[in-house]
Amino acid sequence: MEVTTAIAERRSVRRFSDRSVDPRELGRLVEAAACAPSGSNVQAWHFVVVAGRDRLTALKSVSPGIFALPPAMIAICVDRGRAMARGGAGGSLLGLMDACFAAQNILLAAHARGLGTCVIRSFHQAAVGKLLQCPPEVVPEILVTVGYPEGPLPRGPRRRSWAEIAHLERHGGDPSALGLEGGEAVDPG
Ligand SMILES: Cc1cc2nc3c(=O)[nH]c(=O)nc-3n(C[C@H](O)[C@H](O)[C@H](O)COP(=O)(O)O)c2cc1C
Repeated sequence: MEVTTAIAERRSVRRFSDRSVDPRELGRLVEAAACAPSGSNVQAWHFVVVAGRDRLTALKSVSPGIFALPPAMIAICVDRGRAMARGGAGGSLLGLMDACFAAQNILLAAHARGLGTCVIRSFHQAAVGKLLQCPPEVVPEILVTVGYPEGPLPRGPRRRSWAEIAHLERHGGDPSALGLEGGEAVDPG
């Protein structure tokens, strides 16, 4: 699949079928994550793959952002000790930014492999860290739920129009020369 197709088609998936995800498929997603750019190449990230039902259930219980129990999850954690030792005072923020890039790689690689995902940020960080047996300096920053979508992908939610968010040369500069497509906001799905 072309990366531009994956970018355009990907949607957050919150309802998964019962089909389990082969651990090797999850491994491909971790490989994609670790290809992400990293500020100062510090790579303070850790990827904890969870597919055991009991642990998933426990994680869901401390994560209000998870809609339904997924077949698998990847917790993207940041070693704040490494991030600050190598990235200086701004190391933690860089680590979080790295985690976001890694997450996007997971989302796109998963979509290309027929898997659905959803980024979860609404969770109790300390409780998730404990359930994942993370050492104190390793903090879960993003959860990505993973599974085969139940039914067709949801329609995309409303996006802001280009007139609101795109600018040429300066803030407020007319972006029409950019030929942006789909300038009209779509209805909520
Ligand atoms: C930083 C961030 C945090 C998010 N947290 C949650 C969450 O806790 N629970 C959830 O169901 N979706 C969460 N989402 C998914 C967004 O709701 C979703 O990306 C947005 O509505 C756009 O829909 P789309 O991903 O289908 O394009 C999060 C997304 C991002 C980028």
